[in-house]
Amino acid sequence: MTVADALRRAEQRLRAAGVSQPALDAETLLRHALGCDRAAVIARRGDTLSAAEEKGFLALVEQRASRRPLQHLTGTQAFWRHDFVVSPAVLVPRPETELLVEAALRAMRGLTAPVVVDAGTGSGCIALSLAAERPDAALHATDVSPAALEVARDNARRLGLDGRVAWHEGDLLAPVAHLRGAVHLVVSNPPYVHPADLPGLAPEVRDHEPRPALLAPDPPYGIYERLARQSRDLLRPGGHLLVEVGAGMAEQVAQKLDAAGLPPTETRRDLAGIPRVVASRRP
Ligand SMILES: C[S@@+](CC[C@H](N)C(=O)[O-])C[C@H]1O[C@@H](n2cnc3c(N)ncnc32)[C@H](O)[C@@H]1O
Repeated sequence: MTVADALRRAEQRLRAAGVSQPALDAETLLRHALGCDRAAVIARRGDTLSAAEEKGFLALVEQRASRRPLQHLTGTQAFWRHDFVVSPAVLVPRPETELLVEAALRAMRGLTAPVVVDAGTGSGCIALSLAAERPDAALHATDVSPAALEVARDNARRLGLDGRVAWHEGDLLAPVAHLRGAVHLVVSNPPYVHPADLPGLAPEVRDHEPRPALLAPDPPYGIYERLARQSRDLLRPGGHLLVEVGAGMAEQVAQKLDAAGLPPTETRRDLAGIPRVVASRRP
C-alpha cells in the first residue's frame, strides 16, 4: 500500500466512524506512525509502506475509529508555544484556554515578579506557558489529582521549566493558603460541564477524558463561588481572578465573582464568539 493509498483508506475509515476531521487525523497518525513531518509525508506519497509501517498505522487508525482522542494516540497536544504531553489522567488542552493565557499575560503587564496561582492545572499547560513567558514570575499550581500533577511535572521537565512552578496537591486554593494577601493573579479553568450535558458530548471527551476534569461538582457554579471566595482572601488589593467558563455561563459566573467581592472587569470571547473568560479584580 502506498502512502497516498493508506491516507485515503484511513480517511474513509475515520469519516465512517464519525471522526470530525478525518483527513487531518489520518495525516497526523501517519506522521506519528512513520516518525516524520508533513513535508516528508508529501514527499513519500508514492512510496510503498513497509509491512511494519502499514500494520502500525492501520492499528492507530482503528483506535482512532473507536473514538480514542487523537492526542491519546500521539501523546501530545500543542498549546500556546509548546507541545504538552497528555495522558488519560489530564484534560487535553483546548485552543480556547489560550485566551486565559493571553488575559493572564495582559494582567501581569507592568508587574515585577508577580505571584501567580493556577487552580486545577491538569497538564500544567497554563502555569507552564506563563512560566515560560514570564521568567520573573513565581508560579504555583494546584490539582486534586496526583496523576495529573505527575503529567504536569513531566511537562515541566520536558520543557526545561523544572523548578519554575511549585506543584501542590489539594482542593482549589487551599494548598496555597499561606500566600494570603501576596498573590497578584489567580487563573483557573475549572471543571464546568453539567452532568446532564455529559451524554451529548463527543465520545472522545465523554468516554476518555477524566471526569473530575470535566464535571462541575454540585451545586452548579459552586466551584466558581468557592474559587472566588478563596481568591478574595489570597489576592492583594488590585489582584486579578481570571476564569474560563462554559458556553452560556459567563453572566452567572460574573455575578458570583461580584457577590464574593471581586467585581468583574471584562469578558473575553473565543473564536466562535462564545464568552469564555471572565476577569475580575479585588478592589
Ligand atoms: C478543566 S480541567 C483544566 C486543566 C488545565 N488547566 C487546562 O486548562 O487544560 C480541570 C482540572 O481541575 C482539576 N480539579 C477538579 N476539581 C478540583 C478541585 N476542587 N481543586 C483542584 N483541582 C481540581 C481536575 O483534576 C483537572 O485537572
